[in-house]
Amino acid sequence: MAAGPTGVVLAALGVLSVCAACSSGPVAEGEAGGEAEWAEPWDGAVFRPPSALGSVGVVRDPGTPRPGREEAGDLPVLLWWSPGLFPHFPGDSELIECARGACVASRDRRLQRDSRTRALLFYGTDFRASDAPLPRLAHQSWALLHEESPLNNFLLSHGPGIRLFNLTSTFSRHSDYPLSLQWLPGTGYLRRPAPPLQERAEWRRRGYAPLLYLQSHCDVPADRDRYVRELMRYIPVDSYGKCLQNRELPTARLQDTATATTEDPELLAFLSRYKFHLALENAICNDYMTEKLWRPMHLGAVPVYRGSPSVRDWMPNNHSIILIDDFESPQKLAEFIDFLDKNDEEYMKYLAYKQPGGITNQFLLDSLKHREWGVNDPLLPNYLNGFECFICDHELARLDAEKAHAASPGDIPVPKPHIAQPSHMDCPMPTPGFGSVEEIPENDRFLWPYIEKSRTYSCATVQ
Ligand SMILES: *[C@@H]1O[C@H](CO)[C@@H](O)[C@H](O)[C@H]1NC(C)=O
Ligand SMILES: *[C@@H]1O[C@H](CO)[C@@H](O)[C@H](O)[C@H]1NC(C)=O
Repeated sequence: MAAGPTGVVLAALGVLSVCAACSSGPVAEGEAGGEAEWAEPWDGAVFRPPSALGSVGVVRDPGTPRPGREEAGDLPVLLWWSPGLFPHFPGDSELIECARGACVASRDRRLQRDSRTRALLFYGTDFRASDAPLPRLAHQSWALLHEESPLNNFLLSHGPGIRLFNLTSTFSRHSDYPLSLQWLPGTGYLRRPAPPLQERAEWRRRGYAPLLYLQSHCDVPADRDRYVRELMRYIPVDSYGKCLQNRELPTARLQDTATATTEDPELLAFLSRYKFHLALENAICNDYMTEKLWRPMHLGAVPVYRGSPSVRDWMPNNHSIILIDDFESPQKLAEFIDFLDKNDEEYMKYLAYKQPGGITNQFLLDSLKHREWGVNDPLLPNYLNGFECFICDHELARLDAEKAHAASPGDIPVPKPHIAQPSHMDCPMPTPGFGSVEEIPENDRFLWPYIEKSRTYSCATVQ
């Protein structure tokens, strides 16, 4: 058994790195099949940027002269290789004004080999090595936007995958344009007052469990259901999603999975009846935090969390969530939740951050203050437009550095290459949600995707 599943996973990784080395381009064709079942409907778009209508700038073709000194024709072009994400409307090209100057954003793939095209922008979820613009041109940067977990394309959480890119915008604080707080609109969202405890006590008397679970995507790398199932042996959990379901949401509208990730007021009112929410991310990655974490806090419930190992760094204070991994067993965790459930004073300490001055984490406050994009904020750019400008500014600076070098090659060195790092998509190898790999039967779904990928990521399929 020892060489079984673990061996398969390691073999998959080995093949992947060989593969990246075996061609000059990225690893090809890893996507045959299996992708659809990895889409996660319930992890959908609560705070996705609204429509690009009303985004900055005026529509012009790249060749059209821009009013003023410069010609748009001389401006660097940023080409969105993932056309679905082009954050402008209407048209295929748009002039954007950024801090350092202007660029042309386009989704017209005919510009790929144009000398003015300085950066290609990719969206991680639909990045397909087979569709990559090869051969790669030396003067072009590749920029990756991938706010989601590796579940949507885990090629990118392997070194050879992420190092294909020069610049990244991911959930990681180490990425060039970090989106770690993409699901947190602001401190006001956290400070919203909690419902009175008596109300929740009343729901408990009517037979509600202390803990809520609401999840409809069950087979995920974090293997969360395996843990929750175990926990359920020691404490009541009301589970409304398709995973481990034991209760029904009260109306058909609420049962609709399209409602489940939204800020629907009726749904929020229902969820806030619970004192504790199980909040387990679909994958375990440093700084990957979603609405599963922030929404319970908004509602004044205590998240019982497993997800980003570095989540403490982002919490409003150091006593605001319960970390599953602090407990040696599901049983011990259940005992602790039961203790808090029966001790209002101890429970309320977890909501102290809602009091004036209660958010004491300066790193969180600074991160919110300094990010330049907003979450559903009409006064700030969304992060797609923010990312575009970040790349535009980077490329303008790189052009300046190249010009400076060309003017005095003796004094000014060639600009150093900038290459993305594994820390930009920092997701350790998945482990079972409960127990060890050796304890998982070989036909368990937890192991399937890895076995599948080990087949598709081979050089043989590519050549
Ligand atoms: C965390 O809380 C303890 C008290 O429980 C306090 O002494 C400590 O300073 C706090 N640390 C931070 C970083 O806020
Ligand atoms: C971009 O990254 C590649 C490696 O993926 C590297 O070879 C190249 O020099 C980098 N380009 C720039 C402009 O930094």
